[in-house]
Amino acid sequence: MARKYSFLFVFSLLALSLVGVPIAGWNSAVLDDQLETQVIEAEGAFPRGPTVHMVNKTAAMIYWKTDTDTNAIVNYGNAADNLDSSVENSTLSTEHRVWIDGLTAGTTVYYEAVSDGTASEVYHFKTEPEDGSPFKLIALGDPQPIADIEPEQSEIFKEFMMMVRDEEPHLIIILGDYVHELSDTDESYNDLCWNNFLDASETAGHYAPIYGVIGNHDTMSGDRYADGFLSAFQQHGGDSTYFSFDYAGVHFTFLDSEMPEYQGRIAGAQYDWLVDDLENTDKEIKYVVVHQPMYPVSARRSSLDRNRTERDRLQNLFEEHNVTAFLAGHDHVFQRITVNEVIHVTSAGAGPKLYHTPWGGDFNHYTRWNVSSVRIEMECIKPDGQVAETYTLPYEGHIEIVLRRCFNTSAGQPDEAPLILFSEVPEEEYYSWDGGANSTDLGTFPDTNGLHTLDVYAKGSDGVWNHKYYEFDTVGGEETDTDTDTTTTPPPTGINPLLITGVIGVAVVIVIIVVYRMKAGST
Ligand SMILES: [Fe+2]
Repeated sequence: MARKYSFLFVFSLLALSLVGVPIAGWNSAVLDDQLETQVIEAEGAFPRGPTVHMVNKTAAMIYWKTDTDTNAIVNYGNAADNLDSSVENSTLSTEHRVWIDGLTAGTTVYYEAVSDGTASEVYHFKTEPEDGSPFKLIALGDPQPIADIEPEQSEIFKEFMMMVRDEEPHLIIILGDYVHELSDTDESYNDLCWNNFLDASETAGHYAPIYGVIGNHDTMSGDRYADGFLSAFQQHGGDSTYFSFDYAGVHFTFLDSEMPEYQGRIAGAQYDWLVDDLENTDKEIKYVVVHQPMYPVSARRSSLDRNRTERDRLQNLFEEHNVTAFLAGHDHVFQRITVNEVIHVTSAGAGPKLYHTPWGGDFNHYTRWNVSSVRIEMECIKPDGQVAETYTLPYEGHIEIVLRRCFNTSAGQPDEAPLILFSEVPEEEYYSWDGGANSTDLGTFPDTNGLHTLDVYAKGSDGVWNHKYYEFDTVGGEETDTDTDTTTTPPPTGINPLLITGVIGVAVVIVIIVVYRMKAGST
């Protein structure tokens, strides 16, 4: 019996030795499969992240969550297979914020997060470039789902976040309204809303820091109005919903238009802070970012234009401090207007809810900004990747004239002038109601019902005149921007010095001809 088992043992050893190589290969393959399985499980093992935040020239914060209390390690380096630096936080937690440093400006950093031996996939991000060097910013707004699909996020927003990831931007800004409607009592429902947003956004958030402003849909009532927003975003400001930071020589100021006591306004202590913030920066390029726009086309009087005195105060402040661009969401369109050299861009088309206006812009989109100290190029990108609009600084076009508000009264007795804006302070400007005499004052509607027309003429700093023509129905209809002539044209008769010169010139020629004929007749 013993000899029988000895024989079987020896035979087994011999068999194993004969097939040793294939077995070793099989074992290796099994191990590889097990490792791959472990990595896949590791990705699923992190309920959130890892995502990258607050990237600067030399440091960044990596954030992730685990289901149980674990340690936290970030391995990082200059290539996916060379994660030669490491930072560990041995404090056990389910929420991990690990700062990595020693980075180099304008480079790509690869990283993985590790908790209790489980590693994430290796991701990468770009560090802040040196001041004045080019960088790419993506801005998009209002991904909020419609009521039919909430708390799920829309396919269009998920698609956009994949497109944004593939853009490989340095920075991403989302302009508010991430969720549709939060509960004041059901925390688990709110968590579901925020988690669905974060699941979609971290597609890009693995690879670039996402900054955000709070939107009106992201609030709860009372003092806790911003709790969900503050938990969802890992960014500068800590517990404050307004903050600023510098990036590659550009100053970014983020504001909160949803404070319970000041909703739809930038006022109180925040306004005082904003004045200080703009006074104390020496950066030539300045972005101000907030949810509600100042010159909405659709959500009129339900944006920062509710209080027009404060809106104008804000615009004056931006002009005084040469703010470059004002980014907002809330009005579910794309629009770009320039008011006295401050660019206002509303990018609120990252979700399924769009507003339809006579001016268009009601399409899904995000905006791409290539920024450097000498040139800024903004492009509006549609879901198919097509560029819907491009705008470049330094601006080289002629003065622009836009209409952004007109309130008719149903009684047909208008009491308010339309709001006419110019891309720069005009050298000269004239208005003409119903083809009447030109005036340097806009004035209010003619005091009769029916269709009225308004011609606006403006001369820019390049000496070129622009002309726009509008029609208004003062018995309650929407105004229309007929926009008959946006090319450079002489200003109206009787006003235009060039025209006057021309008329005088013609008169002189006629006199010369008459005198010549008289002379000819007398000879
Ligand atoms: Fe909104």
